[in-house]
Amino acid sequence: MSEKKRTLVTCALPYANGPVHIGHLAGVYVPADIYVRYLRMRGRDVLYVCGSDEHGVPITIKARQQGCSPQDIVDRYNKIIKDSFTGLGINFDIYGRTSSKIHSEVASEFFRKLYDEGKFITRESEQYYDPEAKQFLADRYIVGTCPKCGNEGAYGDQCEKCGSTLSPEELINPRSKLSGAAPIKKKTTHWYLPLQDYEQWLREWILEGHKEWRTNVYGQVKSWLDGGLQPRAVTRDLDWGVPVPVEGAEGKVLYVWFDAPIGYISNTKELLPDSWEQWWKSDDTRLVHFIGKDNIVFHCIVFPAMLKAYGGYILPENVPANEFLNLEGDKISTSRGWAVWAHEYLNDFPGKEDVLRYVLTANAPQTADNDFSWKDFQTRNNSELVAIFGNFVNRAVVLTHKYFGGKVPACGSLLDVDKEVLAEIPALKASMEKNLENYRFREALKDAMGIARAGNKYISDTEPWKTAKEDMERTATILNISLQICADLAVAFEPFTPFAAERLRKMLRVDFEAGFDHRRAGEEGCALHTGRKPAVGVPVLDWELLGRPQILPAGHEIGEPELLFAKIEDDAIDAQMAKLAAIKEEIEARAKAEAARQVAPQKDECTFEDFEKMDIRTATVLEAERVPKTDKLLKLTIDTGIDRRVIVSGIAEYYKPEDMVGKQICILANLKPRVIRGIESHGMILMAKQGDGTMRFITPQEIVSNGAQVG
Ligand code: 2FM
Ligand code: ZN
Repeated sequence: MSEKKRTLVTCALPYANGPVHIGHLAGVYVPADIYVRYLRMRGRDVLYVCGSDEHGVPITIKARQQGCSPQDIVDRYNKIIKDSFTGLGINFDIYGRTSSKIHSEVASEFFRKLYDEGKFITRESEQYYDPEAKQFLADRYIVGTCPKCGNEGAYGDQCEKCGSTLSPEELINPRSKLSGAAPIKKKTTHWYLPLQDYEQWLREWILEGHKEWRTNVYGQVKSWLDGGLQPRAVTRDLDWGVPVPVEGAEGKVLYVWFDAPIGYISNTKELLPDSWEQWWKSDDTRLVHFIGKDNIVFHCIVFPAMLKAYGGYILPENVPANEFLNLEGDKISTSRGWAVWAHEYLNDFPGKEDVLRYVLTANAPQTADNDFSWKDFQTRNNSELVAIFGNFVNRAVVLTHKYFGGKVPACGSLLDVDKEVLAEIPALKASMEKNLENYRFREALKDAMGIARAGNKYISDTEPWKTAKEDMERTATILNISLQICADLAVAFEPFTPFAAERLRKMLRVDFEAGFDHRRAGEEGCALHTGRKPAVGVPVLDWELLGRPQILPAGHEIGEPELLFAKIEDDAIDAQMAKLAAIKEEIEARAKAEAARQVAPQKDECTFEDFEKMDIRTATVLEAERVPKTDKLLKLTIDTGIDRRVIVSGIAEYYKPEDMVGKQICILANLKPRVIRGIESHGMILMAKQGDGTMRFITPQEIVSNGAQVG
């Protein structure tokens, strides 16, 4: 980490078209929050910026589906998302909105400058247009079959199944999401940022200059650059977004991925109208973008190229992007509804904000996709937070009350076991610092937990409840050391489990540097300083004290014991599993209905004569029985109007024998007889086969005489 004066931390602006889920939290917001809390504890001047991304086609599609305006949608989700973050202790300095006036002004000015300076190119092209809805079909307004994986529900900008980035032209069988109609091509003109002009510069800046970036980030950037950059359209034919601020651009808005990252700037400007530039234009500021892996190209290639084109802006020092978190082995998906939503979690597990933060950090998808399971959530809470961290603190505090009236006892001479545990903590602290500064939050949490483990083992090994029977001096030393370790934990866990850290500080009756909880700790120019001062007369903790001897002076009176964490019982987990099972059932039913709607492609042409050869007739089923030892076959005796005959048909999966008796059906009467399972079959029953493979027999709408010719 460079020694710059300030750190500007941005978190990907979540789309305000749905709530945030655990995948978002694990990928972006929890790690960013840990990082910011850590830097603030170290007295660094940090600005923490986020907000809602309120443009883009998914928002307008949702509004149409729900019969409301896009503004209604973003208002609703902006609130839900903002409240979820606050509920989880993720307190940004500003949570702005890209539908705000200031954002529109900043984004327009940004575009206008690049436009005036000739940094864009214009291109006329033919784009898909829905003749029924009378609208161009940008991005997600168009769906079709993915050319890479065959997913029939791929979007015009991306296939969610295989993750490929697509353009609408690549879709096979495109159709409008608005009307379902086959789109036509219509001419339109757009502005493009010629990314290829920035290729060499990007190579030098990232591939040469930032080899320390995470391999997933570096690798994705390299593969984009090696693939050759193309001009990228920065405008769209839509009516929801920031209007393109030039003449002749009526009906056009800025592409959501052009305006969204500018949201980081406009949100900063909204918060600090007079000093925002020192955060964006001073070489004394480090910029760090926390994002998920699907945002890498925008933050490492497109946005930096925009900033470079504009001039005067700093570039990110790092972009620690995480991979994806799965849920119970299956990909989390907002559109399918397969997720654990932050606001529902807060509702279902009040007071357990830290547990989610802890589990998502312990399982963070830092280098590869990872999985969240409710069982693991329960185990990590019960066997780690409760059994190690909580248990240790509880024993130390309870025993201090029992033997020393709640006052920190004096530390006597040290035995090897004492020296060993005391030596462990500075080493863990050093490791934690290295890990936090290099964005390895999972490992840093292990270090913090290492302190709790060391404390728990120390108190178990030294057994102060036994020494208290004959040696109070020794007991005093053990509890003194245990309480010092509790104070260490109150510092070490502040970034990870801030609610528990605060409870622990209250229990120990200690305070913390004002920089811990207010927005920016810098002495100078700190516009947001809350002015809070540490309470008078109590020990004040800070990061530097972690691992130092005697943070809590002998004689200091601590508070009453309180459980830091409570056990999570099976019924709470069962309820969550039942919730997921219901979601899965719904997803499967939807997928089935969707598959049933899929239509097989048309067969090769045939002539009228070919068709004429087939003798299709109406007939009535007289008798039906299963063909023994088969699952699929029914033996049907039918009246064809010509004769009475037997047909063996593979419909037992869909109809029981009794369902068929008396039904009028259509048959291919002149099909050459075949012996099936020892039964001679004379003809074939006509069936309608649906996309999911299920079949239904064809029946005349009204009863007609048997033997009527179909054709
Ligand atoms: O992927 C997303 O959720 C985007 N809304 C992230 C935008 S990040 C930034 F550029 F605004
Ligand atoms: Zn695909």
